[in-house]
Amino acid sequence: MSTEGRLLEEAGQQQGGHGLDGGGRDGGASEGGRQGLSGREASAREGGRQGLPSRERGRAESTYAVGLLGHGTVGSAFAELLEQRSAAIASSTGRHPSIAGVLTRDSGSFEQILQSSEAIVELMGGIEPARRCLLAAMEAGRHVVTANKQLLCEHGQELFDVAARCGVRLRFEAAIAGVIPVVRVLTESLQGLEVTRIHGIVNGTTNFILTEMERGSTYEQALVKAKRAGFAEADPSEDVSGRDAAAKMAILARLAFGVEVKLKDVRYEGIEQLKVDDLEYARQLGLSLKLVGTAERMSDGVSVRVHPAFLYGGHPLASVNGSFNAVTIEGESITEITMSGPGAGGRATASAVLGDLVSVMEGSGPPARIRPPTSLPLLDDVRSAFYLHVEVADRPGVLVSVAEALCRWGASIKSVLQRGLGENARLVMVTHPLSEANMRAAVSEIAQLELVRCPPRAITVIEEEFT
Ligand SMILES: NC(=O)c1ccc[n+]([C@@H]2O[C@H](COP(=O)([O-])OP(=O)(O)OC[C@H]3O[C@@H](n4cnc5c(N)ncnc54)[C@H](OP(=O)(O)O)[C@@H]3O)[C@@H](O)[C@H]2O)c1
Repeated sequence: MSTEGRLLEEAGQQQGGHGLDGGGRDGGASEGGRQGLSGREASAREGGRQGLPSRERGRAESTYAVGLLGHGTVGSAFAELLEQRSAAIASSTGRHPSIAGVLTRDSGSFEQILQSSEAIVELMGGIEPARRCLLAAMEAGRHVVTANKQLLCEHGQELFDVAARCGVRLRFEAAIAGVIPVVRVLTESLQGLEVTRIHGIVNGTTNFILTEMERGSTYEQALVKAKRAGFAEADPSEDVSGRDAAAKMAILARLAFGVEVKLKDVRYEGIEQLKVDDLEYARQLGLSLKLVGTAERMSDGVSVRVHPAFLYGGHPLASVNGSFNAVTIEGESITEITMSGPGAGGRATASAVLGDLVSVMEGSGPPARIRPPTSLPLLDDVRSAFYLHVEVADRPGVLVSVAEALCRWGASIKSVLQRGLGENARLVMVTHPLSEANMRAAVSEIAQLELVRCPPRAITVIEEEFT
């Protein structure tokens, strides 16, 4: 039996085998559980290692005890990777990381795991009991690592404040973009520099689906392929709706600009409405389609948004295909940095978690320096170029009517394609940048035109190229 399996069994025997909150991810833990935690805090606060029971103190000379909360896709991959890499990590840190206990819904006890661990790795997901466990662990002097984007998006400031007050490390690289070390770059490498914009392909599922659609699959066919390849869950709505990417972009905006952004503040749109012919016409215009998250510092505030966007070939994100993620960071002194790597899946995410754990063990380098919060306004309307697809009657004067409606709302046309005859006649165009609110108004006006056969489709175009 593996160490982890034995400890799981031990924890189950000692504690009667109860998770913190058997009632579901976001349910509350019992008051009894809370009181139990605070009762232990006083002794644990005396200092991380001193907080360990005597049985553990001796063992800690050579082992670094890790408490693991959650043993699902990422948690089990992390436990396996930790066991495989333990000797290599010991040769660089002098300590053998080892799982001291595992909490699932129906086995393990958080209090017992906390007492026997030097660091806590949270891979349960959801808000509660994850939030309560991380706060209790930090209050007890433990370093913590998490991959929980939902929790960081909604309660990041509370967690950052407690980590700073307790002098412990809070690491969360795996919450954003798989193995890409974007948190480290923003909080360490680029400290003191001004970041102006971040563009990210931060959801591997949607990037896989869009790549398949560019190769000719319909949305439905591409989703089936994504599920078969293990890149989409049975219920893919968090991913395809853009919600998952929105939470990640909110965290990146907090790190880059100091502005607190909750999920409700991010305007997001998914990929369910996209049609294969949009991708085909866009290809003829030299564009490729991605689900892009943007966090942007502007003169009057910060904009955070997620939506499908067309990119010209010279943009670094244009060639990021399949389940890969990529993040582009722009700033005056750095011009542009792009990082890409595998974004989805237990193993890739577990690698990022392990990297965070090792940095916590080494205690090297500064703790992640989170910018102090600022009160910059969040902007709803920004300027963008647009791709516009209009199915029209095959009659003279159609192009003029559509162009006039665009012109009334301040849009000028950069390029246009007229395709098809009769029932298949359509106009495909790209505009120069205009306010998104104006573009929405122009689209509703065009939809009212007698010559238009069905509601037009407008998709943002990101014009920047770095060639
Ligand atoms: N999957 C990915 O590719 C990926 C990528 C990046 C980040 N993440 C993040 O990683 C975290 C874990 O994701 P996952 O895909 O591994 O989730 P998962 O497969 O659903 O596993 C969740 C684990 O947490 C345990 N758990 C859930 N609620 C609990 C509770 N109230 N008390 C005790 N244990 C509880 C579950 O216990 P049972 O085993 O008893 O059900 C399970 O072992 C999430 O924050 C997710 O956003 C995942």
